[in-house]
Amino acid sequence: MSSALITNGLKTRFVGQRTIYYPTLTSTMDVARQEAQQGAGEGTVVVADEQTAGRGRLNRAWLSPGGNIALSVILRPGLDCLHSLVMLASLAVVHSIEAVTGLKAQIKWPNDVLIGGKKVCGILIESRAQGNTVDYAIIGIGVNVNLRLDDFPDILPIATSLSRELGKEVARLSLIRCLLLEIERLYLALPAGESIYEEWQDRLVTLGRRVRVESGGTVQEGIAESVAGDGSLLLRHPDGSLTRIVAGDVTLRDQG
Ligand code: BTN
Repeated sequence: MSSALITNGLKTRFVGQRTIYYPTLTSTMDVARQEAQQGAGEGTVVVADEQTAGRGRLNRAWLSPGGNIALSVILRPGLDCLHSLVMLASLAVVHSIEAVTGLKAQIKWPNDVLIGGKKVCGILIESRAQGNTVDYAIIGIGVNVNLRLDDFPDILPIATSLSRELGKEVARLSLIRCLLLEIERLYLALPAGESIYEEWQDRLVTLGRRVRVESGGTVQEGIAESVAGDGSLLLRHPDGSLTRIVAGDVTLRDQG
């Protein structure tokens, strides 16, 4: 892969028009943050073939050997659009996977992308705001494209890859290009007030299910009743009370 292979003929206005490619890197989030702090333009993308210190949500590590997708996109949204990036990123991944591979993907709140109940993509969003101004937001996307799960027995029960689902290697380039186009399309629609909340909500496998949510050191169980417009999860407890959860990790407790 190379930057030119990604950008040549890429039909976006700005997302990915400047793409920085590394064969190997600690984490695309680190380089994207440095770039953003040094004033990189909106839409700058950092891609790595392999990450040696890939990061996940909730301080977890993200397995990132070569042959998969690890990229970060720098955006500079208004404060009112910041909460929509979680929805935007997961929908962009779902649309791109479906368009390129024909596989049906779902979203587990807040933004894990699953195929057949197993995780195929993780999304990490980091941002810095001062007062009412967002300096930058970085969307980090890791897709298990050609990950050989047999080499990683620990995650085999919960993870999958596109190649495993399709039974053949998957070309990363078309997926990356589709993803960048889709991120831009959804992003440009945000200020126009076009809501992506409804489609995101419809795609959530989580709703109506009995779940266990770990968040901020506490564990809660209940029915995932709905999501609010800001992306938070509303959890109905056995005693009838309702809790609003802004960030956390959900495990589905029933078979759906
Ligand atoms: C998660 O599911 O916990 C989120 C995983 C996010 C992984 C991506 S890979 C590209 C970017 N660089 C990182 O170090 N993390 C994100």
